[in-house]
Amino acid sequence: MSDKLWAGRFSRALDAQANDYNASIRFDKRMYAEDITGSMAHAAMLSATGIISKEDGETIIGALEGILADVNSGKLEIDLGAEDIHSFVEQELVRRIGDTGKRLHTARSRNDQVALDLRLYLRNQTDEIIALLKKLIQVICDKAEAYSAAIMPGYTHMQRAQPISFGHHLMSYCFMLLRDIGRLQDARARMNVSPLGCGALAGTTFPIDREMTAQSLGFDGSCLNSLDGVSDRDFCVELASALSLVMAHLSRFSEEIILWCSWEFKFIELDDAFSTGSSIMPQKKNPDIAELTRGKAGRVYGDLISLLTMLKGIPLAYNKDMQEDKEAIFDCFDTAKMALTVFAPMLETMRVNTDRMRKAALEGFINATDCADYLCAKGLPFRSAYKIVGELVAYLIRTSKTLESASLSEYKQFSDLFDEDVYQAINLERCVEKRQSLGGTSPVQVAKQIAFVREQLQK
Ligand code: ARG
Repeated sequence: MSDKLWAGRFSRALDAQANDYNASIRFDKRMYAEDITGSMAHAAMLSATGIISKEDGETIIGALEGILADVNSGKLEIDLGAEDIHSFVEQELVRRIGDTGKRLHTARSRNDQVALDLRLYLRNQTDEIIALLKKLIQVICDKAEAYSAAIMPGYTHMQRAQPISFGHHLMSYCFMLLRDIGRLQDARARMNVSPLGCGALAGTTFPIDREMTAQSLGFDGSCLNSLDGVSDRDFCVELASALSLVMAHLSRFSEEIILWCSWEFKFIELDDAFSTGSSIMPQKKNPDIAELTRGKAGRVYGDLISLLTMLKGIPLAYNKDMQEDKEAIFDCFDTAKMALTVFAPMLETMRVNTDRMRKAALEGFINATDCADYLCAKGLPFRSAYKIVGELVAYLIRTSKTLESASLSEYKQFSDLFDEDVYQAINLERCVEKRQSLGGTSPVQVAKQIAFVREQLQK
């Protein structure tokens, strides 16, 4: 009973099961470093403003440094019997320095404290995710450079559409992931204001200096409405949403990797270190890592919905519902971090079967657009050229031929404009090379994309 921060008004201890239900230490203990550094900044401010004595301030800060060092080194174990990480740190402080430790919570509430800890923790987590995204983008750029001239079929509706290079295909993911970084940076900037000093909900009667704590903790400013400061969890939703898109992108990529690994495609082979076998079928080599990533996207979306739902009905200011923010947002970060961590080396070590890709591109009249473009260049309106090539393709399908194997006289049955140079025009390498428009699939354009993306990574 007496070990509760809120003991005093109560005459009976919390029911054991209600206590377990209420406690958050199991999952908020990971914020111990943020809780302690936040407390040190608060103590320094209390002492600088004369709210507590210089001597008490120094004693508190010294003891907090000791607690941090001891938890870091494993000398001090976080007591899972504590209600939450804030209670644990304060109780340990009081255990170490007695009554002086009891002055730390002056002009502070666990409501602004937890809002502070969470922002500090998620700020670091966001930086880690951005670093992992950058690493993955680098890996993709390197692969794209190596395969900027490797021909593969580009698809729409999962039907062979036009020839592209594998490098071009890979680079598309870099642009998605760059946008992900941008979204995370935007969310981080909005999140980076300090709620410390909002108190329980209404601010405080003490002459605190909020700008001082905000600055010393690396914030760009302070939350300017105390009710909002303690009850805002928008940043969790924004981050979960940005991470949902990260997972959506990894999931789409995974889906393609899974297809490409199949015997039907065989465009790539994943390294043994990133594949798994079957317990019964000796021949199997499964892309479990990609499948798991596709599966885990749903889990992160679930976290996002949990956060949105948790927020939608709670009146101002703090309500205990908000304790549910942590497991959801932590799970988003843990999941995305794990996915990004395995994804990069999985891609780095995959083998690419360029012959299979080119062969797949050879069948299916993938160069029909180029054939129409050829007639267009000879003066026909595109729509008319389109129709002629459509009729030609229908004829070739009927006679089991391809644009490459048709004779010139067969071509000429459909238009007099066809000449010997049509074979050059429908050559797959030429088809890719000629798509020089900005953002197109030609190796020159892909090289530009790679250079652009690499430059963005330096920022
Ligand atoms: N464990 C709590 C949470 O995560 C800390 C804040 C407690 N505040 C309170 N008024 N009970 O939200």
